Amino acid sequence: MVISGKQVAMRCRHLLCVSFLILLINGISAFGQVGPHLDKHDGYSRLIVNGAPFLMIAGETSNSASGSLQYMETVWPLLKQTNINTALIPLCWDLIEPEEGEFDFSIVDGLIEGARANGLKIAFLWFGSWKNMVSSYAPSWIKLNRTRFPVLQDKNGGQVQMLSVFSDNNVNADARAFAALMKHIRSIDADQQTVVMMQIENEVGYNGGKRDWSDLAKTAYKSQVPKDLMSFLISNKDNLIPEFKAYWEDNGSRSSGTWAEVFGDTAEGNEIFMSYYYARYIGRVAEAGKKEYDIPMFVNASIGRQDRAIGTYPSGGPVPFVMDLWHFAAPEVDAISPDIYYGDFEGHCRAYTQQSNPLIIPETRGGVTGVARAMLAYGNHGAICFSPFGIEGYVNDPIVAAYPIFSSIAPLILNANPGITMKAVMVDKDTPVTTIVLGGYKILCEFGHRGNIPEGEDAGSALIVKTADNEFIAMGQNISLQFSLLERGRKNLVTGILECEEGSFVEGQWTPLRRINGDQIMNDYTFDVASLDGRSGNGLRFSKVGLQRVKFYNF
Ligand code: DGJ
Repeated sequence: MVISGKQVAMRCRHLLCVSFLILLINGISAFGQVGPHLDKHDGYSRLIVNGAPFLMIAGETSNSASGSLQYMETVWPLLKQTNINTALIPLCWDLIEPEEGEFDFSIVDGLIEGARANGLKIAFLWFGSWKNMVSSYAPSWIKLNRTRFPVLQDKNGGQVQMLSVFSDNNVNADARAFAALMKHIRSIDADQQTVVMMQIENEVGYNGGKRDWSDLAKTAYKSQVPKDLMSFLISNKDNLIPEFKAYWEDNGSRSSGTWAEVFGDTAEGNEIFMSYYYARYIGRVAEAGKKEYDIPMFVNASIGRQDRAIGTYPSGGPVPFVMDLWHFAAPEVDAISPDIYYGDFEGHCRAYTQQSNPLIIPETRGGVTGVARAMLAYGNHGAICFSPFGIEGYVNDPIVAAYPIFSSIAPLILNANPGITMKAVMVDKDTPVTTIVLGGYKILCEFGHRGNIPEGEDAGSALIVKTADNEFIAMGQNISLQFSLLERGRKNLVTGILECEEGSFVEGQWTPLRRINGDQIMNDYTFDVASLDGRSGNGLRFSKVGLQRVKFYNF
């Protein structure tokens, strides 16, 4: 078929109109602004809000804080006092769809208005089908109709208060409510972009290593592993999460069969089976929501007190072992996220940044250790969000003093390259001294000052950004930092401080409070030992959390 120039032009116009409409539907505001979305920067993801990169310096409210707008009136002032820029706030299915198909979004409107009045952004937590495994937030018309909305059954046929992932009625009801919610949020917020993200469900899964034994689940378990999943695993074999790949291989690397045949009738096999179905369910909810308003969506995982011992966390949830299944079965979910309360914090960050997964930490702890962990998350792992849980109870916490500093250096953090032009370090009683490398320098990092560990403090930490040759901005607490050149050359150069200032960033401009020198930069008087190492004895010193700008010279 030959197409004339005029026809080509018409088709292009038609295509442009269709593309424009799709963009409009999916989050372009009335003012032509693209909605909140993720972009890639130096291999890490950044959140873009109102057209600019945005760092979520956040906190999650306790579960029932948003149980009414009246109660929230007591919470907003506390949130304001914590210096967060984003509140993670539950939105409960039973409150927005009290009768089937009849939506009441007054709580959504009130929460968005409250956030705006307090200068905050929101990430809503969709407490839909599950919150911490159970289905307590499902509306009563769901709870009271066990036939239409079946629950999970244990091995003995006992009913568990968890909607079954194997029921189409369940997922359709959740997806319809979530879609209506996203449509409503778009209608009132696409221009201002107060709502920047959605978490779908909360810490899903079933008790470790077990599976649903309802009839629907048994049928799925006896069926063949879906062909498209097998093809995905086979064609991505070399890029699968190593633990998952090893497990599949140990089980015979089968390319077809029932779930038990391919993945074993084991705790791990059960976890893989349940994960796929949780991911598929939540993927359908996300897809329905994104069709109405396409903003970033994530799921969070309970990772318990372990590093991967099945039985110590709800299996089926989005943990690294099953990350591939989540990516395959829930492609509309932008990130799988760890709630980090225990264990090796940076180990968890590494596990959750595999396969370019954006790092969002929706729940964690505060304290001095929380401040240190925020530095590690943003500085070394490109985190988009750091968010202690129960934030309204944090008004006297050290994180509250640290958050304005994070906010002021957010543009620096967002434009730096985590682990390359920016690094963070944490020291504590177990590791009071360590060395990191940044910008051509070795940095000797010591907990406290000259061997004196600060009493009653759990940790010291620093977040350091290289801003020019021999120039750095450092945020620190309870830490001393001595710089020396990595390559000292034939002259065995020693590093001294040319200028050091304490200060802050005000509207993006470095604003010194005072020049610091003398005792405030003196770290080591054993010059003969220090100079062997290229150190002059001068360095940065932080007790309470603060910000310094330093220029070095080498002699
Ligand atoms: C993890 C859950 O995700 C939160 O909603 C809350 O229940 C905390 N645990 C309590 O520590």
